[in-house]
Amino acid sequence: MLKNKNIILGVCGSIAAYKSAFLVRLLVKAGANVKVILTPDGAHFITPLTLATLSKNPVYTQYFEEETGVWSNHVELGLWADFIIIAPISANTLAKLATGICDNLLTAVYLSAKCPVYVAPAMDLDMWKHESTQNNINQISTYGNIVISPGSGELASGLHGEGRMAEPEEIVAFLLDSIKQSLPLNGKKVW
Ligand SMILES: Cc1cc2nc3c(=O)[nH]c(=O)nc-3n(C[C@H](O)[C@H](O)[C@H](O)COP(=O)(O)O)c2cc1C
Repeated sequence: MLKNKNIILGVCGSIAAYKSAFLVRLLVKAGANVKVILTPDGAHFITPLTLATLSKNPVYTQYFEEETGVWSNHVELGLWADFIIIAPISANTLAKLATGICDNLLTAVYLSAKCPVYVAPAMDLDMWKHESTQNNINQISTYGNIVISPGSGELASGLHGEGRMAEPEEIVAFLLDSIKQSLPLNGKKVW
């Protein structure tokens, strides 16, 4: 079902970024064409080299290369995608999606895209429970974005509670399920 589908995987600054490597592998195994966009902070948590090797595509982190001036066309990338998955999405990027802030390549591609967008939050339980985070989750849902809820368990901080990013297998299963059901998503088509 994912064969030859074009998927952009956005990765934000969270310890859960290590799970994105497994997610890329699963998507590639399923036959998808995967391009990864790391936020600049995401690149502190997992290297472009790992994700480029696994996705078999260059990884994007910046709008343009300082030395060469070569720039990544966010509009083209947004239109290329059949699906965007942002996993992990941080509280910070979530707030940007909710308000339309567009200060990096990932947020620019998000605003340019016409395809379904899935987000898998990862954060500490108090960040997740915070009213502003919950308001942002509700807000992006009204735009038709699909939230893959975090699970409960041990968190990187050592605390226990809600905020663990869904496992890569769960994210792929969720994606396949929603494709099967072709859920009506505020006018956005899932096939
Ligand atoms: C070790 C460490 C772990 C972090 N984990 C998370 C996290 O799981 N979720 C989150 O929302 N922010 C987390 N942060 C904070 C984000 O990295 C920070 O808000 C950053 O600006 C996010 O940038 P981005 O949204 O552009 O990727 C963490 C920071 C550090 C130093």
